[in-house]
Amino acid sequence: MERVNKILYHPIFRSTLRQIERLESERIFCLHNLDHVLSVARIMLLCAREEGIEIAKEVLYATALLHDLGRAYQEEQGGNHARLGLALAKDILTDCSFSEEEREHIVTAIANHNQAEASDPLSALLQKADKLSRNCFLCPAYQECYWPELQKNQGVVL
Ligand SMILES: [Fe+2]
Ligand SMILES: [Fe+2]
Repeated sequence: MERVNKILYHPIFRSTLRQIERLESERIFCLHNLDHVLSVARIMLLCAREEGIEIAKEVLYATALLHDLGRAYQEEQGGNHARLGLALAKDILTDCSFSEEEREHIVTAIANHNQAEASDPLSALLQKADKLSRNCFLCPAYQECYWPELQKNQGVVL
């Protein structure tokens, strides 16, 4: 997991996460902090193992860690956070020695993560884990949340 740990220490990764934390300090809905992206990584790994999907652990973790970086720019620039963070994610992946092929794979999944249909197994895993990571059943903002009732997690699923 050497390359994943490199991401954790990457200055842009760290400053972007801090920026998201600042922006979300008053937010009553789900946060997009380190806890969230690490939960997503672990759930992706569990689901991949359960479903027999063979994707390298480092690719799963890198995808999860970088998937919400665009949240740092959404308020200022508007648009889809899944796309706003792609350039940053690519640069970080390059600096952390992920190959061109791995970068394309990861960036595609990040771009797709809030789209209606996942086009490939990594995108599908990210979408699924992103939703399962949320503890709706204990959320104080349950009533105000825009998620459709049926999508809210009513208990621990994994
Ligand atoms: Fe997201
Ligand atoms: Fe997310």
